[in-house]
Amino acid sequence: MELCVALDLPTMEENLALVNTIKSYPVWLKVGLRAYIRDGEPFIKALKEINPECKIFLDLKLYDIPNTMADAAESIMGLGVDMFNVHASAGKIAMQTVMERLKKYEQRPLVLAVTALTSFDEDEFKSVYSEKIAAKADQFAKDSYEAGLDGVVCSAFESASIKLITSNEFLTLTPGIRPFGEDAGDQQRVATVELAQKEHVDFIVVGRPIYKSEDPAAVVEKIIEKL
Ligand code: C5P
Repeated sequence: MELCVALDLPTMEENLALVNTIKSYPVWLKVGLRAYIRDGEPFIKALKEINPECKIFLDLKLYDIPNTMADAAESIMGLGVDMFNVHASAGKIAMQTVMERLKKYEQRPLVLAVTALTSFDEDEFKSVYSEKIAAKADQFAKDSYEAGLDGVVCSAFESASIKLITSNEFLTLTPGIRPFGEDAGDQQRVATVELAQKEHVDFIVVGRPIYKSEDPAAVVEKIIEKL
């Protein structure tokens, strides 16, 4: 299992300072909407300058018509990131179109699909998708697998069952991790590192428990010791 640190701080300077303090640890760095909209490609370049070995997950959760998503995926190729994601609810055709477009590249980033956002509770999820989270997440995972994606973003509670209906090699990445039972914030379905391990999760994403801590490097070290 690998640790992915969410760079969700209010300024680029704060994100870069955080990366500097944890650069000696083998972690993935997650660049989300806030940071990418504000700081763009220069931010990606700055991360690589701090640590040329670092792996970057661009968490933009693409959702659009198939051709627009494939165009965006091709633009992402130019950034040199190692992983990006799309929404499975954009549909199987959109996901297939993205994967088809990336076929011409010898090397491409991992492509994951978001199943159900971990901030949903059952009621809110049902009002959007008219189904229970678990059933719909399974369906989204199957669609993503059949469309040729590398894995899904899901809750830790869904990881093992998703691997059962797809493949053991189909990757799962789970946000909503509170490594040592910290405050959940707006996340509804939070899990600890132990639960993620039991569920055979491949990547855990941790944001606030690291960047809001007084000693982020110590928290990273404590998590890595457990992996
Ligand atoms: O601070 P926290 O650990 O809750 O951060 C979780 C990170 O994972 C945030 O950057 C959030 O945008 C992202 N994320 C999520 N749920 C998803 C996909 C991504 O919380 N389904």
